[in-house]
Amino acid sequence: MEDYPLLKIGIIGSGGIARFIHVPGFQLCSNVEVAVACDSSAETAEATARAFNIPATTTDYREVIANPDIDAVVIATPNNLHQPISLEALAAGKHVLCEKPIGMNAAEAEEMALVARQSGLVHVVSFVYRFVPALRYLKHLVDGGHLGEIRHFRATYLCAVPDIWIGWRNHKELAGSGVLGDLGSHLIDFARHLVGEVDAVSGWVKTLLPQRLVAGTDRYKECTTDDTAAFLAEFRNGVTGVFEVSWHAPGRGGRDTDFQYIELNGSKGTAVYHLQEPFQLRLCPGEPYSKDQLFTVPVPRAFHKWPGSSRDVRADAPNVGFRYDQAFAFIQAIRGLESAHLPDFEDGLAAQLVVDAVLEAASARRWVTVKR
Ligand SMILES: NC(=O)c1ccc[n+]([C@@H]2O[C@H](COP(=O)([O-])OP(=O)(O)OC[C@H]3O[C@@H](n4cnc5c(N)ncnc54)[C@H](O)[C@@H]3O)[C@@H](O)[C@H]2O)c1
Repeated sequence: MEDYPLLKIGIIGSGGIARFIHVPGFQLCSNVEVAVACDSSAETAEATARAFNIPATTTDYREVIANPDIDAVVIATPNNLHQPISLEALAAGKHVLCEKPIGMNAAEAEEMALVARQSGLVHVVSFVYRFVPALRYLKHLVDGGHLGEIRHFRATYLCAVPDIWIGWRNHKELAGSGVLGDLGSHLIDFARHLVGEVDAVSGWVKTLLPQRLVAGTDRYKECTTDDTAAFLAEFRNGVTGVFEVSWHAPGRGGRDTDFQYIELNGSKGTAVYHLQEPFQLRLCPGEPYSKDQLFTVPVPRAFHKWPGSSRDVRADAPNVGFRYDQAFAFIQAIRGLESAHLPDFEDGLAAQLVVDAVLEAASARRWVTVKR
C-alpha cells in the first residue's frame, strides 16, 4: 500500500457516524489523509477536526467539492442532503461514500445510481454490516451451498431511542422514512446480499410516539416518521422473509449495542447471526431436525477482516472494529483493487425500492410488487 499516491478525503457531515466509523477508518489506511471536516455547524466541524487532528474545517460542502486536492468525499449528513451532495460531488469527479439510506425515496436513488453508473467513479453506500466477520462467513456458506437451498429469511433490528430524544430522523422532510429506512435498509441489504432480490412485500409502519418531549423543556414536537415497522417479503427465487425493526425496544441497546439478528433456514440446515457475536455463527447442520441443536461455530480467520486490510482485529471492540474496513475497501476500490461485495449506489437504490414498496403496502394495506 505504501507505493500508492496519497488520497485526500473530505468529510461532509462531521457528526455522530463520521466520528464513530468514517474518520477512524480512513485514519487506519496507508497514504490516506482526512483533509477536511465539513459541517453546517462550525462547532461540530471544529470539534471533529480537533478530536482527529484534521487540518481544515468548513461549513460549506461546496468548498470541499470544488477543492481540486480532494479525491473523495464521505456524505454523512441527514438523508435529505445525500442526493444533492452526491450528484454535485460526482459531477466534480469525486469518488463518493454515501451514508444510508441512499436517498429520501426511490426517485432520488434512481437518479443517484444512474449518475454514479455513468461517472466511472467509485460509489459506495454505507451498508457497513456487510463487513461483520460473521456476515462475510455466512455469505460464504450460503454461496457454497452449505445450507442447501435457502427457504426462509428472518431478520430483526432493534434499539432503544429514549422518548425524550428527538432529531432529524423524526422529521419526514429531513429523513424520508424513519426506522424503516434507518435500520430496515440494513436488513434489506442483508437479505438481497444473502438471498436475492425481493419481489413483493406486505407490512405496516407505525409512529408509536407521534410527539416527543424536547429534552430540558416542557415542549412537545411532532414526529412525522415511523418508529416501528414490520413486513413480510416474497423473494423472486421463492424464498420467504420476515422483517421487524423498532426504535422502541428498551434494553436492546443503541449504536454498537443494537440488537441485530438474522436467521436463515435452508434445506440442509439453519444459520443464526447476531451482531453482538461478530466472530461466531450458530449453525445446525440439518440433522437431527427434532432437537433444538444449534452449534456455535467460530468464524475462520480468513473472514476476520477485509482482504488486504492490515487492521489489527484485536485493537478495537469486536462489534466496532469491522466498521473501519469499509473505509479501507473504499480506498482499495479507488486504487482499482479488490472490491467484490462492496455495496454501491445500485445496492442503495435496490434497498430504497423495497423501503418505498413497504411504505406503499402499509398505506394501502395490501401486497405491493417491488419496482425494478
Ligand atoms: N451506516 C450506519 O450504520 C449508520 C449509522 C448511523 C447513521 N448513519 C447515517 O449517517 C447519516 C448521518 O447520521 P448521524 O447519526 O451521524 O447524524 P448526526 O446528526 O450526528 O450528524 C449529521 C451531521 O450533518 C450535519 N449537517 C447538516 N446539514 C449539513 C450541511 N448542509 N452540510 C454539512 N453538514 C451538514 C449536521 O450538523 C450533523 O453534524 C444519516 O444518513 C444516517 O442514516 C448510518
